[in-house]
Amino acid sequence: MFPSVRMRRLRRLNLVRETRLSVEDLILPLFVDETLEGKGEQGRKSIGAMPSQFRFSTDAVVEEVASALELGIKSFLLFGIPRRKDAVGSEAFNPKGIVQRAVERIKGEFGGDAIVITDLCLCEYTTHGHCGLVDEETGEILNDETLEILGKIAVSQAESGADIVAPSGMMDGMVAAIRKALDDAGFKNTAIMSYAAKFHSSLYAPFREAAESAPKMGDRSTYQMHFANAREALREVELDIKEGADIVMVKPALFYLDIIAKVRERFDVPLAAYNVSGEYSMICAASERGFLEKEKVMIEALTAIKRAGADLIITYFAKDVAKILK
Ligand code: PBG
Ligand code: ZN
Repeated sequence: MFPSVRMRRLRRLNLVRETRLSVEDLILPLFVDETLEGKGEQGRKSIGAMPSQFRFSTDAVVEEVASALELGIKSFLLFGIPRRKDAVGSEAFNPKGIVQRAVERIKGEFGGDAIVITDLCLCEYTTHGHCGLVDEETGEILNDETLEILGKIAVSQAESGADIVAPSGMMDGMVAAIRKALDDAGFKNTAIMSYAAKFHSSLYAPFREAAESAPKMGDRSTYQMHFANAREALREVELDIKEGADIVMVKPALFYLDIIAKVRERFDVPLAAYNVSGEYSMICAASERGFLEKEKVMIEALTAIKRAGADLIITYFAKDVAKILK
């Protein structure tokens, strides 16, 4: 009790710190755009709703990975924007598809120095923009029919050299289906990072511009979770672990720190959190207007995600943070 206990005694020394951000914890998302292929210097195109973020050609993405590796970032999450979309998302499992080519290039160039994670979903590849197959008559998302395609995508991504596949479509049974498809094809060491508790959030809006993945009709509320639910998130995580997820993810991060903390407390698997596009763009926009200081808010936000219990943070700020930590 006061006056023998004085909390400010140590605070004055700034010696005891419980949480530290480190560059190894950061995963940088990257968008590869097939329409930028062969454009040389024009192989990078800025994303309007996400300041300082770009879509890349495969040539340009290799350069981007090189510059991130230089800063100490070692993991990358790849999203593909194909030239052609169709109802079943065939380009997602094309062995010469945009993501497959990008993975081959990056792994060919950097080998084990770059950990390549591939987002595994249909939404960027389908004309309707949903994360699963759609029944044309009823508009219903066909869960079980989607699983087979997810398995095919996983195998083609693993064949191209992906270290980790990251299913993001919130289909029931997706992790088990992908694990089985990978094992059957001999990819026992390809890991799965599951978007286990992915909420139906308004914070994905800038990403949908970046990845051209907005649903053309309806929304994702029949497969992504309602933001009001926490216990349901724990069930989702538990199921994905049982199905064989090596890493589970909570997404978004900042409005969902309670979920991160609960998952951390209850489960012992590695936990990732996705600091999504809306979280990124809010901070950028407010600091462009002079309301907030970008660097400070960014470090506070990411440290909070780590403090809540995340081992890994997927963030568009990865390079900015790495520069500060250096
Ligand atoms: C789609 C997907 C989304 C994000 C990653 N994968 C958007 C969505 O569900 O609409 C969001 C990432 C971000 O906002 O940064 N499967
Ligand atoms: Zn999707």
